Amino acid sequence: MQTSDLIQGLRKSYETGTLEEANLRPDPIDLFREWMDSAVEAKLEEPNAMTLCTASADGMPDGRIVLLRSFDERGFVFFTNYESRKGNHLLANPRATLVFLWHALERQIRIQGVVARVSAAESEAYFRTRPRGHQLAAWTSPQSQPLAQREELDVRLAELESRFPAEVPLPDFWGGYRLVPQRMEFWQGRKNRLHDRFAYTAEAGVWAVTRLAP
Ligand SMILES: Cc1cc2nc3c(=O)[nH]c(=O)nc-3n(C[C@H](O)[C@H](O)[C@H](O)COP(=O)(O)O)c2cc1C
Repeated sequence: MQTSDLIQGLRKSYETGTLEEANLRPDPIDLFREWMDSAVEAKLEEPNAMTLCTASADGMPDGRIVLLRSFDERGFVFFTNYESRKGNHLLANPRATLVFLWHALERQIRIQGVVARVSAAESEAYFRTRPRGHQLAAWTSPQSQPLAQREELDVRLAELESRFPAEVPLPDFWGGYRLVPQRMEFWQGRKNRLHDRFAYTAEAGVWAVTRLAP
């Protein structure tokens, strides 16, 4: 059978749970926390992996997975190379969307908002928690730039290992971004494609929530 015929026949019924008005919280960050706790408890692999969607200066959307490293009332934080493709997008257009898929729980969360760099102190604090190999990788990889061959990375890494024999400093081109949410949507799969969806929107600092048609 052709792959396209096979995937056309893949059909899963979503019946794991429901999302009802009674489950909502006034603040969507609290609901996010509950859902993240459930994802961690369910032992999902990297539940903090999310698709980060950005757009170029001329409006071409792009997306890639990054890891959520912290979240609270101030927003959602991830770390990356500020000079990467996504970094250049965010420089030109500091708006982004995060998408989580927790397939085993039949859940999706979409978070739209405005993105800003975290302070150097916050990036430094996180950088200190990284293993040395990851710290050196941040220096080694000119993320998103063309490489003629992989060996370039080996050469750079060897140089950096001798340049930083003890503590690896935080590169000034690497650090965190915080997305401040303006819209958060929670999706729970239901039977026969009649899913539950609730969208929160921030209006003058107050969250309003609306049920949406699936
Ligand atoms: C599971 C997973 C986790 C990832 N986590 C990160 C991350 O936290 N930060 C990061 O810069 N790239 C991360 N990446 C790599 C990105 O998806 C991407 O390849 C890289 O950031 C370059 O993207 P860009 O060229 O659009 O800037 C991760 C990839 C995967 C598959």
